[in-house]
This record gives sequence, structure tokens and C-alpha cells, in this order.
Amino acid sequence: MAISSTLDIPVTSTVPQHVAIIMDGNGRWAAKRLLPRTAGHARGVQSVRSAVETCGKLGVRYLTLFAFSSENWRRPADEVSLLMRLFVQVLEKEVLRLQEKGVRLRVVGDLSAFEPRLQELIEQAQSKTAHNDQLHLTIAANYGGRWDILQAMRRMLQASPELAQNTEQINEPALTEHLSMAWAPEPDLFIRTGGEQRISNFLIWQLAYTELFFTDCYWPDFNSDELKKAFEWYRNRERRFGRTSAQLQAAASN
Ligand code: FPP
Repeated sequence: MAISSTLDIPVTSTVPQHVAIIMDGNGRWAAKRLLPRTAGHARGVQSVRSAVETCGKLGVRYLTLFAFSSENWRRPADEVSLLMRLFVQVLEKEVLRLQEKGVRLRVVGDLSAFEPRLQELIEQAQSKTAHNDQLHLTIAANYGGRWDILQAMRRMLQASPELAQNTEQINEPALTEHLSMAWAPEPDLFIRTGGEQRISNFLIWQLAYTELFFTDCYWPDFNSDELKKAFEWYRNRERRFGRTSAQLQAAASN
């Protein structure tokens, strides 16, 4: 079970173990070039490839990308359908490359809303890469942090109905084992591209003690050098997890 940052103090290292990214700014990248918004999403796939490669090379173990939020269904129908087609294409084309690089792919979110072909491709890609352990790549699709907490609550009560009568026994471990990313440690570094400074219902439970990095760079321009800048910023953060700076220094000199 992954360590909880509110119950224990996680071991940290200079390279983040788990990086979670909101890939924002595709539409504005395209608008700046007088291109349709969808061209920005298509270009964004290159940045996904680059992030996977760079994370693999630098020793990151978990990379989680927010590809489609539960609220993104509110977008124009043609944009939603282009995004779905892109996911299908990426899954069809990239699985071999992921295999070569030892990447395990998982998709989290309410997948029941996707068309059967997409669900099938997701299933196949997950099982083909299930034995890989170099980098754990998770795509959050039709995902929302509140949805995740609610589905975890439902699954917890289905698994242990007696908890409904003994609510004092409901604790963090009981719930978190049912979150859709229960296998992963909490993110060390959260990155949002595109200039907005919000979490937008992404992994809201797990981001409790995550370092938050915001950049104006649009996602299609977020190349390996931009990612390394975020890592450099992370390396200089003092992760206190509620302790004082003096306590940390004393612990380091012991
Ligand atoms: C946000 O930019 C981006 C998305 C909603 C989609 C992200 C999708 C990709 C990068 C392509 C495929 C990814 C995978 C993992 C297969 P926005 O449209 O909100 O941009 P804007 O804020 O400039 O309008």
C-alpha cells in the first residue's frame, strides 16, 4: 500500500518519483497559429511522447497525465470526437513503443462512457503492457477527483458493509485502497502548463502534499527542456510535510 503523506512522512528524492500533469493550452497554442483547436491536441501528442521519454530517462517511476476530465464532455461535440479519435490512434500506434521502453500503461476514470472500440483498445493496451515496470504511465480519461473519492467510498462499503454501522472504523487506509490509483504513491510533483493556476478536480485526494508547479508554456511547446526546468524547481523545494524547517535540518545532520 502506498504511503499516505498525512499519516506518515514519505521518503523523498531529488528526482520526483511520481509526476502528475495537467496538459493545458492546446487550444490557445493552435489559436495563436490560426489553426483549429484540434490541431493543438494533435500536436500535444508529441509532448506526451517527449514527457514519457524524459521521465523514463531521468528515473521517474510514475507519470500521470490528465487527458480528459469528467467536465470536458461540455466541449463542442466535434472537439470531443477528435479527442476520442486521437486516443484511439495513440493506443493503436504507440503500444509497441511503450513495450520497447518498458512502460506499463493504465487508464483511470469512468471508462463506461467511452465507445466500446475505445474501451477494448484500452483493455488490450493495459494487458499487453501489464508486465512492464520501468515507468508506470497512467492516463486519466473521463476522470474527476470527486468521482474517484465517491467511487472509492461505494467500493469500500460494498467490500465492507459493516463499516456503515461502525463509521468510526472508516479511516484513510480503508478508503484509499479503493481509489483508482491505489497502486501508486501520491504525486511528488504536479505540473500544469498553459498559465492557469488551479487543480481542476485532478487527483484531489492525492495532491494533499504535492509540490505544485505552474508554467505559462502551452502543452504543445512543453518539451524535454521545459520538463527539466520543472524538475530543477522541484529539486530546490523543501518538503516539510507539516514539520518546521529547523526539524528538517536537525534530521539531516543526524
Ligand atoms: C487541454 O487544453 C487539453 C486537453 C483537454 C486534452 C489533452 C489531450 C492531449 C494532449 C492529446 C492526447 C493525449 C493522450 C494522452 C493520448 P485546452 O484544450 O483546454 O487548451 P486551452 O486552455 O488553450 O483551450
